Amino acid sequence: MRDDIDKVLIDRKTIAHRVRQIAERIVADLPDERELILVPILTGSLIFVADLIRHLPLYLRIRLLSVSSYPGSATRSRGSIVRDELTSLPGSLAGGHVLLVDDILDSGGTLKLARNLLLERGPASLHTCVLLRKPRDAALHVPADYVCFDIPDEFVVGYGLDYNDYYRNLPDIVTLRREAIDARG
Ligand code: IMP
Ligand code: MG
Repeated sequence: MRDDIDKVLIDRKTIAHRVRQIAERIVADLPDERELILVPILTGSLIFVADLIRHLPLYLRIRLLSVSSYPGSATRSRGSIVRDELTSLPGSLAGGHVLLVDDILDSGGTLKLARNLLLERGPASLHTCVLLRKPRDAALHVPADYVCFDIPDEFVVGYGLDYNDYYRNLPDIVTLRREAIDARG
């Protein structure tokens, strides 16, 4: 699997340092009650969220939201759909401070859909946090309160991000060699 890597864009040490920094900002920005409902968008944000929450010394609960936007081996978003069977949002979020977390803000479709689903449930506040953001016009119009890294418009995998569901377990954020994309597609 490691032979499939073209280049390392962000290494694990840089990721760890930045995740800790963002966690500190999230805590500093929270109102005094220090309670948070964290909503990870599955599956890409799994690894990020697992690291992030261990730097959040808060009364924190997790509700899952599963959105599919790259069915299979596409490397461009084809629109987003909610997968109900893997989603555990409560009917109401009234009074709750919610933090929505995703792996990457690309076209923005996923985050927009997810934000609307949460806003319908009436949270006291809603903030969004993404690991990566690509420099696409559409992406820059979707509000993201916390962005770990702005990256070039390249297809990346690792640290939770996948190609056709592979490579999530790579510890660094990397680009793939053409042959790997062809072989795993
Ligand atoms: P958007 O809806 O176009 O913003 O796409 C967001 C979703 O597309 C993310 O949650 C990822 O699952 C996926 N995605 C976008 N860019 C990449 C990438 O470079 N590598 C892997 N997945 C990506
Ligand atoms: Mg994905």
